[in-house]
Amino acid sequence: MTTVLPPATPSAVPAAAPSTAPAGAAALAVALAIRTDLWADRVEYREESRWTSLLDPADVAHAIDPSLHAELHDAQIWLLSWLPGQGTPLHDHGTSAGAFAVARGGLTERVVARGVDGAPRQSTADLAAGRVRFFGAHYVHQVVNTLHEPAVSVHVYAPRLTLMNTYRIDESGLVRVGTERAGVDW
Ligand SMILES: [Fe+2]
Repeated sequence: MTTVLPPATPSAVPAAAPSTAPAGAAALAVALAIRTDLWADRVEYREESRWTSLLDPADVAHAIDPSLHAELHDAQIWLLSWLPGQGTPLHDHGTSAGAFAVARGGLTERVVARGVDGAPRQSTADLAAGRVRFFGAHYVHQVVNTLHEPAVSVHVYAPRLTLMNTYRIDESGLVRVGTERAGVDW
């Protein structure tokens, strides 16, 4: 007996991602976020600022299926903790694409994009543990822990994050106000 499968319909095709690179980063971020055994005992919380730490791909490679995560070797992976109220300024990631997955607690992401008229368009999303966001180069967002419990997130960048531009919004639109070296104040 032969089973005839229905033809694929447009609705069955996943929506196009900005590129394959951030989608791969998203899959890797989730794969690492759910493997709490890889990082749980490393997490620190700091009252003065968010805590950040690089995860060496070589240290987690044993837990990652190389056939699913070919980008692991070249990825830059950050583990971050966020106490209640801690957050980033509005920033981009330079020319890096990437993704972040919420591993514990929850984070609120505010995204700013320029509309066709050049005016900034803003949206906000509450991201619970298990949620992931991915983005291409020049994506502008702000991430804050607005909850009353600490949060942990895993961030993956490719190419490696080297700088971040910070922004404010005023009557003239989205205005760049500074450039920070990655890992120093983000
Ligand atoms: Fe970011």
